[in-house]
Amino acid sequence: MTDFILSIDEGTTGIQASFFSMDDFSMLGNNKIEFPQIYPRPGLVEHNPEDIWNTTIKAIENSLKFAEGEKSSFNQKKIAAIGITNQRETCLAWNKKTGEVAGNAIVWQDRRTAEFCDHLKRNETVRKMILQKTGLVCDPYFSASKMHWILEQNMKAKQWALTGELALGTIDSFIIWRLTGGQSFVTDHTNASRTMLYNLHTGSYDPELLKLFSIPESALPEIKPSIGRFGFTKGVPGLPDGIPITGILGDQQAALFGQNCVQQGEAKITFGTGAFLLMNTGENVVTSDEGILTTVAYSTAQRRTFALEGSAFIAGAAVQFMRDNFGWVKNSSESAELAMGYPRDEDVLFVPSLAGLGAPYWNPKARGVLFGLSRGTQKSQIIRAVLESIALQNVQLLRLMEKVSGQKIVRVGVDGGASRNDFLMQFQANILQTLLARPANIETTSLGAAMAACVGVLEEDVTFNKIEIAREFRPEMPEALANASLYKWLKAVDCVNLFYKS
Ligand code: G3P
Repeated sequence: MTDFILSIDEGTTGIQASFFSMDDFSMLGNNKIEFPQIYPRPGLVEHNPEDIWNTTIKAIENSLKFAEGEKSSFNQKKIAAIGITNQRETCLAWNKKTGEVAGNAIVWQDRRTAEFCDHLKRNETVRKMILQKTGLVCDPYFSASKMHWILEQNMKAKQWALTGELALGTIDSFIIWRLTGGQSFVTDHTNASRTMLYNLHTGSYDPELLKLFSIPESALPEIKPSIGRFGFTKGVPGLPDGIPITGILGDQQAALFGQNCVQQGEAKITFGTGAFLLMNTGENVVTSDEGILTTVAYSTAQRRTFALEGSAFIAGAAVQFMRDNFGWVKNSSESAELAMGYPRDEDVLFVPSLAGLGAPYWNPKARGVLFGLSRGTQKSQIIRAVLESIALQNVQLLRLMEKVSGQKIVRVGVDGGASRNDFLMQFQANILQTLLARPANIETTSLGAAMAACVGVLEEDVTFNKIEIAREFRPEMPEALANASLYKWLKAVDCVNLFYKS
C-alpha cells in the first residue's frame, strides 16, 4: 500500500501543505493559506511567527481533510515522512527553554540594515572576504545583518543570549523546532548558505563572520545535510507523534530539485513572490564578482551540490501590489487579460524595485519607478509594463550566469504561481530568446521538498524521475526587437539605480 510524504512550503506570503504519493509523486490534498504581511514603515517587512505557525497547522489540517476526501485509502497513519521548504533568509529569535518568540520575524525583503551593510562593504577587504567565503554580496537581504539587528535592538533576545536560552534561526529551523516539540534545533546547508555566516568551502559557520556580525554560534541551529534525519513530530495538532522529518531545502533550491535540474548547467526560474533563477554547477563552487550569487543547491551526507543564483525580489509580488494597493486586478490571469486588452505602449516601462534592486545591482535603497507616462496612458498599459518587468529582469541574470559559468543555457524550467500566466511566459521566452519548459505540476517547490524527504526516509541515493512537461514556450519575437526592448529597459534600471545611490 502506498505511503505519502507531507510537504510543507513555508512561503513568503502563504503556507502550503500537500501530500505526495511515494509511488509516482502525484499530489493530493493541496492547501495554501495566505498570512498577514506587516509593513511597520517603508522598507520594513515583518511576519508574526505565531501567524506562521498557526497558518502551518491550519494548512496541514485542511490538507489532511482534503486528501482523505480525494483518496479513500489515505489516512494520517500513511504519512511516512515530512519535507519542509521555506522562504529563505527571513529570521527570528525565540527562547530555547520556553518557546516564547522575541518579536516578529524580519523578512528577506526588509531593508532596515541597509546602512550597516553599506558601512561594512565600504571596506574592500571585508566585502571581498564575505564574497569569497559565502558566495554572497554584502546586502540586507541575507540573515546575518538582520540577526545582528535583533541582538542589538531586541531586549528579550539580548537577555536570552546572556542566559544561553537564545535561538536565532531561519524559518525552517523555527518550524522544525515547533514540529518536534522543541527537540530539534537544526537547519540544512541550503538555508545556512543564505545566512552570510556560512563558509561555502568548509560547510560550516565561519568564525570570522560570526565575529563580524557579533553572533554567538551557540544561538544558531546545527547544520545538517538537506536529505537526512532532522527529528520526529511531537505534539503537533492533527498529526501523530513520531513522523520523521527527512528533507529540508530552501524554497528556490527545492524548486531546482523538483525540476530535476540535477545535471550541471540545468536551470530554472521560479516565479513566486520574487523571481529566482538558479543554475546547477555540480560540485564546483563557482564564485563571481558580477552580482550573481553562489549557493548550496542540496546536500546529502556524502556530498554538496552547488548552484549560481540570480535573485529578483519582485515577481508575483508585483501582481499582489496591483491587487492590494490599487485594486486594479483580482489575480494573475486577469492581469494578463487586461495587459493584452490594449496595444502595447513601448514607452511605458516599470522598474519593479519595490523592495530595492536585487541581482546584479544590489541597491537596497532603490524604489519602484514607472517611466513614460503621457496623457493618453491607459491602466492596461501600466499593467502590461508591470508584467513585462517581471520577465525583463531575468534576461540580464541569465546572460551573466552564462558568462560566469562559461556554459550556454539552452532551456529553462519555469514554475511557481505566476508561471501559470501564459502571457508572461511567452513574453519571457521572447525576451530571453530561450526555450521555456513548464511542468504539468508547477508546484515544484513542494514537490522538491517531498522528493528530498522521500530519498531521506528511504535512505536511498538520489535518483530522479523525468517530470512531465505540460507546455513549452519558444521565442516568437525577432532577436533584434527583443534586444532593443531589453536595452531600453536596462537604461531605465540604470537611471533608477543611479537616482537611489547614496
Ligand atoms: O530568498 C527569498 C525566497 O526564498 C522567497 O521565495 O517563493 O517566497 O518568493 P518566495
